[in-house]
Amino acid sequence: MTAEVEDRPREQWGTRAGFLLAAIGSAVGLGNIWRFPKEAYDNGGGAFMVPYLIALLSAGIPLLIFEYAVGHRHRASAPRSMRRLGRPAAFIGWWQVGICFFIATYYAVILAWSVRYIGFSTSKAWGDDPAAFFQNDFLHTADAPALLGAFVPGVLVPLIGVWIATLLVLALGVKRGIEKANKIFIPLLVVLFSILVVRALFLPGAGDGLNALFTPDWSAITDGSVWQAAYGQIFFSLSVGFGIMVTYSSYLKRKADLTGSALVAGFANSAFEILAGIGVFATLGFMALQAQVPVGEVVQGGTGLAFIAFPQVISELSGGSALFGVLFFGSLLIAGITSLMSIVEVIVSAIEDRTGLGRVPAVLAVGGLTAMVSIAFYPTENGLYILDTVDHFINSYGIVLAALVAILVAAVVLRKLPVLQRHVDAISSVRVGTLWQVLLGVVAPIMLVWMSVDSLIKEFSENYGGYSTSFLLAAGWGVAGLALFFGIGMSLVPDRNADGFTPGDPGDHGAREEVNA
Ligand code: ALA
Repeated sequence: MTAEVEDRPREQWGTRAGFLLAAIGSAVGLGNIWRFPKEAYDNGGGAFMVPYLIALLSAGIPLLIFEYAVGHRHRASAPRSMRRLGRPAAFIGWWQVGICFFIATYYAVILAWSVRYIGFSTSKAWGDDPAAFFQNDFLHTADAPALLGAFVPGVLVPLIGVWIATLLVLALGVKRGIEKANKIFIPLLVVLFSILVVRALFLPGAGDGLNALFTPDWSAITDGSVWQAAYGQIFFSLSVGFGIMVTYSSYLKRKADLTGSALVAGFANSAFEILAGIGVFATLGFMALQAQVPVGEVVQGGTGLAFIAFPQVISELSGGSALFGVLFFGSLLIAGITSLMSIVEVIVSAIEDRTGLGRVPAVLAVGGLTAMVSIAFYPTENGLYILDTVDHFINSYGIVLAALVAILVAAVVLRKLPVLQRHVDAISSVRVGTLWQVLLGVVAPIMLVWMSVDSLIKEFSENYGGYSTSFLLAAGWGVAGLALFFGIGMSLVPDRNADGFTPGDPGDHGAREEVNA
């Protein structure tokens, strides 16, 4: 790699709405549809809204503003923006590139499953036993986990399709590709998902489902794990800690309302999350009524909800079942693909900056590499095990840890929060003031440390998922560690363009405020 590449003129979003839709498209994803409803139900139902809203306001939105500020001020990919924030932060940006690489490899696979299930919905291909169909007939899941296994063509083919579509959009660029795709997909998602929710609300038993979700268990508020769940949900769902928002905000115009955008994106994401909770629980209420069991007995999240519970419901619907399936899996696909684009964009943008490659070669090189790793490991009989493990470890010891380290390095080591705050306040509609520094520098790190220590304790008390230690060392700790080592390794390779950057350089933005401060 060459180290002498100068910054080229940076692509920009066409409109503020385009940026907002892309940011919302990144945030609204699988986390909203299949993660939130179960998290809310398990953690106090209606009472979960209290820690959830506090987590959004005290850490989610402040962190979103932090990432917007870093990307907008330094106008570069995550690694280079972090490097420009200060040399000790360089590794965090590359670490996030590594994290995004691993997340993209499995995130695409869930979208490939959704593509197949759109087709399966029309014929109810799962028959009487959706669980057995999913595990055995569709995924051909092996008896015990391993890293390599025989390919499953039923997943391989749609996965290749998902990757081609994603890389095509990225190859078209920020304005013509990502922005345009989000301008089409996000309104479409809202329409499709709203139809699904309205249909679900008219199902018999829907009211019981909503009661189960929203009846508050106020005792939950005194339980620490409920607060951890709320903060964990907000981080994953808002796409903070991935480097995505640093990358996306680097394409903003100089005059940009950062706090206003963060508030809109944050609340739009939560609104969609609550809509998903309503749709999912109305459906689960129907499922419980059919089985004559309490709603609590049918509650699931993740793959179990999407690929086992929903097919079960689709089979039990008397009319319009195919449409219900197409709406659900279509929504999952659209919500997911706009998030996948943003995850891969972190990698593409970093490599563009670092090597000077043009967009198309960068997309082909690193997008292609990510796609190849995804295709080599996941559409196999071990894919489900690997996906489950990588997802767990890269979230707990990737995203959350990277967010924590980024805040600590910026706040304590580099002492850059005041500069970032001035940058934000100088151009935004809502001024964040010193409250933002307190939330970001004190409240968010306390919660993140608490969450990390607690999950580490759980990790060592029992093997995640009951998997063997050797499998967890390879697919779990190994993957999380690799992302971190990649980050440290890349930050040690000199990057003269970033290193030589001084406040006030042409192309710098906002650093002038630091000079003047
Ligand atoms: N924020 C994205 C999601 O919710 C990653 O799935």
